[in-house]
Amino acid sequence: MLDPRILPYYNPAVNRKIAVVTGGNTGIGWYTVLHLYLHGFVVYICGRNSHKISKAIQEILAEAKKRCHEDDNGPGLGPSIQRLGSLHYIHLDLTDLKCVERASLKILKLEDHIDVLINNAGIMAVPLEMTKDGFEVQLQTNYISHFLFTMRLLPLLRHCHGRVISLSSIGHHLEFMYWKLSKTWDYKPNMLFTWFRYAVSKTALIQCTKMLAIKYPDVLCLSVHPGLVMNTNLFSYWTRLPIVGIFFWLLFQVVGFFFGVSNEQGSLASLKCALDPNLSVEKDNGKYFTTGGKESKSSYVSNNVDEAASTWIWTVHQLRDRGFEI
Ligand SMILES: NC(=O)c1ccc[n+]([C@@H]2O[C@H](COP(=O)([O-])OP(=O)(O)OC[C@H]3O[C@@H](n4cnc5c(N)ncnc54)[C@H](OP(=O)(O)O)[C@@H]3O)[C@@H](O)[C@H]2O)c1
Repeated sequence: MLDPRILPYYNPAVNRKIAVVTGGNTGIGWYTVLHLYLHGFVVYICGRNSHKISKAIQEILAEAKKRCHEDDNGPGLGPSIQRLGSLHYIHLDLTDLKCVERASLKILKLEDHIDVLINNAGIMAVPLEMTKDGFEVQLQTNYISHFLFTMRLLPLLRHCHGRVISLSSIGHHLEFMYWKLSKTWDYKPNMLFTWFRYAVSKTALIQCTKMLAIKYPDVLCLSVHPGLVMNTNLFSYWTRLPIVGIFFWLLFQVVGFFFGVSNEQGSLASLKCALDPNLSVEKDNGKYFTTGGKESKSSYVSNNVDEAASTWIWTVHQLRDRGFEI
């Protein structure tokens, strides 16, 4: 497993590095933000609940302080209390495209560049629901809103040859043939078809990453499966179901015991993609990384450039129809 301490540290007083992370208040995102902060980044945590984010900021500040004391190896090595970054909250609800637009405008006003954008927020296998923008909720939260957010922030990313990292999932492999994004998989039982909706959203994220890499080769665009991280809130819909919830909790614990990684280990793939100086646009753009930051191959469907282009065009048209010009 990657040791994040081998990744570069920056001094914010000398080199202002900016990161934007969606859903950084819990789970994998929490550790992603912690490490970026330890590495000297100014981090914008984008999320929908100000109370949860304030709480996460306090916890991350305390954890970072503890780690600096435990791990003070002298100037230049490991995190240092003098070279910590800073943490800021941006309101972002991915189920509301207008809110996505407002969040990106706020960042555009505050900064002139972004070094790293991590599209981390997500939901998994929830019941079928349509957002007020008229998209299936997993498709909008995991993919469409991140597409809009990325496109709006692109000028700042291009300004400094930044990086875009999108958290997909091994679950994207469930899309074993290309399915149109307009298909909502509104079939019963939900317990089965909800996984197809998740797979479509996560395949679309990889396709969009590949298209971004082709269209904007000055920005390094990567997608990630973080590992099986069973103790995050991603599974809470299932574990909180009456009666059968306990069965799912047990099942997830067993899977986690044999195949899982910790929440912190789940952040390593994103961190490698965000910080590793050996990754470059020339040789790595559009690639897919998995648990711990290992380079891997995404599904056959997600690698088809023609289908990726269809997904891109469909998304641009859908956003245009709702008044969001790309
Ligand atoms: N855990 C795994 O095993 C696993 C495996 C493969 C891929 N992934 C992917 O990794 C990413 C992080 O997952 P995780 O396990 O850390 O999940 P998590 O603990 O549930 O965290 C998800 C984050 O997304 C945020 N979020 C959800 N809906 C949102 C919305 N409408 N607007 C803004 N933010 C929203 C949540 O905010 P709230 O706290 O406000 O709900 C939370 O901060 C996800 O994209 C997931 O699909 C995870």
